[in-house]
Amino acid sequence: MKKQNAVVLLLAFVILLTDAITTVNGDDRNPKLQVKYKRGKKYCTQGWECNNWSIYCCNLTISDYFQTYHFENLFSKRNTPVAHAVGFWDYHSFINAAALFEPQGFGTTGNKTMQMMEIAAFLGHVGSKTSCGYGVATGGPTAWGLCYNHEMSPSQTYCDDYYKLTYPCTPGAEYYGRGAIPIYWNYNYGAAGEALKVNLLDHPEYIEQNATLAFQAAIWKWMTPVKKAQPSAHDAFVGNWKPTKNDTMGNRVPGFGATMNILYGEGVCGQGDVDSMNNIASHFLFYLDLLGVGRDKGGTHDVLTCAEQRPFNPNTKTASS
Ligand SMILES: *[C@@H]1O[C@H](CO)[C@@H](O)[C@H](O)[C@H]1NC(C)=O
Ligand SMILES: *[C@@H]1O[C@H](CO)[C@@H](O)[C@H](O)[C@H]1NC(C)=O
Ligand SMILES: *[C@@H]1O[C@H](CO)[C@@H](O)[C@H](O)[C@H]1NC(C)=O
Ligand SMILES: *[C@@H]1O[C@H](CO)[C@@H](O)[C@H](O)[C@H]1NC(C)=O
Ligand SMILES: *[C@@H]1O[C@H](CO)[C@@H](O)[C@H](O)[C@H]1NC(C)=O
Repeated sequence: MKKQNAVVLLLAFVILLTDAITTVNGDDRNPKLQVKYKRGKKYCTQGWECNNWSIYCCNLTISDYFQTYHFENLFSKRNTPVAHAVGFWDYHSFINAAALFEPQGFGTTGNKTMQMMEIAAFLGHVGSKTSCGYGVATGGPTAWGLCYNHEMSPSQTYCDDYYKLTYPCTPGAEYYGRGAIPIYWNYNYGAAGEALKVNLLDHPEYIEQNATLAFQAAIWKWMTPVKKAQPSAHDAFVGNWKPTKNDTMGNRVPGFGATMNILYGEGVCGQGDVDSMNNIASHFLFYLDLLGVGRDKGGTHDVLTCAEQRPFNPNTKTASS
């Protein structure tokens, strides 16, 4: 009996040891960085910007490689008098919003090039969906991102009664497109509000009043799969997603094209080289250039676009602005 007890004790001790955590404080170069090792794996936090123990917080944070002047370059026309959301969007609301998702890998996955590419990709969607640059606008059509913060002339309130039990529409509330990648419909406001812990079903207008929230709703959409078995746009872009046979048969490969497929489906994908698709991709390429990564990193036509991809979710109601 005694011997058995000793064995149990020893076992418990061994388990305790392998579970041991070492915490190391930040070094001189990066005083915010805290590191610990658990079962041989490295976890970190970095101040307010990456404040949950996570493998991703060991890497550069977004503000390390994407600064105010980058934001100003990408969205240089947003505060011109003809823009429709003058004074609304700024760098700090983007970084504050991103901080919520950096521990999950947003802008913190892979090496610096991959990190910058993800920001260019995410903001490429943002820029094209909030643009008011058409045809011959000065600076070219890709210089006008963040011109809007909501849909201008909604034709309906986007209330879908099918979701009346889960996400019932609040009388008087309108669920038209709002945000950095606009969300539409009561069920999208309901789901985003749940994730962000903000009552967006009762107060969809918060998104057009608060730029941090407007970016958070967009990053939430980027980080969240439409359906359980599907990749998020984030996963498809950074290479976390491994395509199935079915995906390969539908020409769905990791890259920027797949993010358009996930976010907009047949609205822009599987229809050849249509303008709606090329407009989004051209924002991404423009931003890759502005960030110094270079548009050649956008990938070959089949990776960059979804021209030949079968939509993940056919027949879904995805209003595009
Ligand atoms: C941080 O961790 C807590 C507890 O594990 C979790 O509830 C929260 O969602 C995490 N936050 C982020 C930004 O990942
Ligand atoms: C960074 O990662 C990308 C994509 O994963 C890869 O193609 C590239 O070679 C890497 N660059 C360096 C310098 O390691
Ligand atoms: C952190 O950065 C390194 C080197 O740049 C990269 O190889 C690694 O994949 C990144 N970590 C995560 C969790 O993405
Ligand atoms: C804007 O939204 C963020 C995120 O939910 C919140 O932390 C902040 O307090 C809001 N700002 C205002 C002025 O309501
Ligand atoms: C394969 O793709 C087709 C068409 O997109 C879809 O109807 C089917 O459910 C998919 N099968 C699996 C196993 O995912």
